[in-house]
Amino acid sequence: MLKKMTAGLLAGIITVSVTAPAVMAGADEVIAYRKGVMNTVRSNAVAIMAMRRGNLDMEDNIGDIAQQMATASGLVTAAFKVDTSAMDSKEKTTAKDNLVWANWSDFMEKAVAMQADADAVAALAAAGDVDGAKNAIGNVFRHCKACHDTYRK
Ligand code: HEC
Repeated sequence: MLKKMTAGLLAGIITVSVTAPAVMAGADEVIAYRKGVMNTVRSNAVAIMAMRRGNLDMEDNIGDIAQQMATASGLVTAAFKVDTSAMDSKEKTTAKDNLVWANWSDFMEKAVAMQADADAVAALAAAGDVDGAKNAIGNVFRHCKACHDTYRK
């Protein structure tokens, strides 16, 4: 039974890899998605900053909010992997020319650095250290400007 299933699974994998054509992602969807990821990082980071300033009463949910920020931060490199700089698109982009892709390892380093600080906030929030999470949110915001200055119009 298990053997049969494994064989079936393998056959499926082989069929897919042989028959599936290379999928060309559409620039509109790619750009819309990466903007969505960025806006998810933003809305959750801004919410934690607003809690710190006493302007938003969402402390009961700070664990989920911090986790969403961290998860979205972790999706930045995947969301930007397609170089859309030479593709036609209706979706507006503020990515600066082809700089993200021409300097991919630097871009990735900046994204991973943000993710590390976002993960730290999420870990504090998950551990119930609400004040610690609020205090550490500034570390996440340092990365926005650091990356945007180079890679965003
Ligand atoms: C590793 C680089 C990098 C980091 C770090 C980064 N961004 Fe971005 N961000 C970009 C790029 C590139 C764009 C342009 C995307 C596009 O328009 O295609 C962008 C776009 C945006 C947008 C506009 C999205 C839209 O709808 O047009 C917002 C908002 C944003 N970033 C917020 C943030 C915030 C807040 C942070 C920090 C918490 C942050 N970003 C960190 C690279 C980064």
